[in-house]
Amino acid sequence: MIRIKDVCKSFDGKEVLKHVSLDIADGETIAIIGGSGSGKSTLLRLLIGLIRPTSGEIWIGDTEIGQLDERALDRVRLRMGMVFQYSALFDSMTVGDNVAFGLHEHTDKSDAEIREIVREKLHLVGLDGVEGMMPPELSGGMQKRVSLARAIAIEPEIILYDEPSSGLDPIMTEKIDELIIHTQRELHVTSVVVTHDMASACRIADRIAMVYQGELIAVAPVEEFKKLRDERVQAFFHSLRTVKEDIGHDK
Ligand SMILES: Nc1ncnc2c1ncn2[C@@H]1O[C@H](COP(=O)(O)OP(=O)(O)OP(=O)(O)O)[C@@H](O)[C@H]1O
Ligand SMILES: [Mg+2]
Repeated sequence: MIRIKDVCKSFDGKEVLKHVSLDIADGETIAIIGGSGSGKSTLLRLLIGLIRPTSGEIWIGDTEIGQLDERALDRVRLRMGMVFQYSALFDSMTVGDNVAFGLHEHTDKSDAEIREIVREKLHLVGLDGVEGMMPPELSGGMQKRVSLARAIAIEPEIILYDEPSSGLDPIMTEKIDELIIHTQRELHVTSVVVTHDMASACRIADRIAMVYQGELIAVAPVEEFKKLRDERVQAFFHSLRTVKEDIGHDK
């Protein structure tokens, strides 16, 4: 269970998240939507302990991580995987070493065991035989999938995805959605997925939460969410439709 309790976050006095509270159940997939700059990535970075709340509490299971020291935080992080908004692979390391990174750092598995896990996770994301390649040699979609393989390599209980399909074509977006669903079913993970794509959110999530200018203004199961009359939710849907109309048949 993840519990976000009355969390505020400011940077240099500027309030970026305001009194956010949200409980996420074990095994649930929740999609976080909201405009650019509304605080979605900040929320994920708080959940994985990369930054600390200005006030409020963040519980990962029975541990409150807001004030933990780095070593204790590291232990909690072992239970989490994150796919970053910009895939954040190490460009000077092979794909195989990228996926193996957390395993070398945090487990005492043998090199042979790690090689086998890397092969298996890359296979799960539809990438066979790319261990020896360097990230810059891969397309954006392949890099995202390598990030996903790296996130699931440590068999986390929680996976955080920050716009896993941004910049990808619609077919690749659907593939990534399927991977998120597949990963949830296979590993029974709790998933928090930040996305701009309502169609993706509806496909993958149990519930959708909307952040608006740092506030969590709506949380509901997908079907209920679609019917919300809140004008900010409607405006978000409407603006997405307009964007799609503007770019015609590309999406
Ligand atoms: N480390 C930081 N220092 C100062 N300001 C920050 C920092 N991180 C985020 N912000 C500010 O917080 C606000 C929210 O940023 P955040 O990255 O969480 O938005 P987002 O919802 O993920 O946007 P996008 O959809 O564009 O990715 C922005 O105004 C951003 O400039
Ligand atoms: Mg972001």
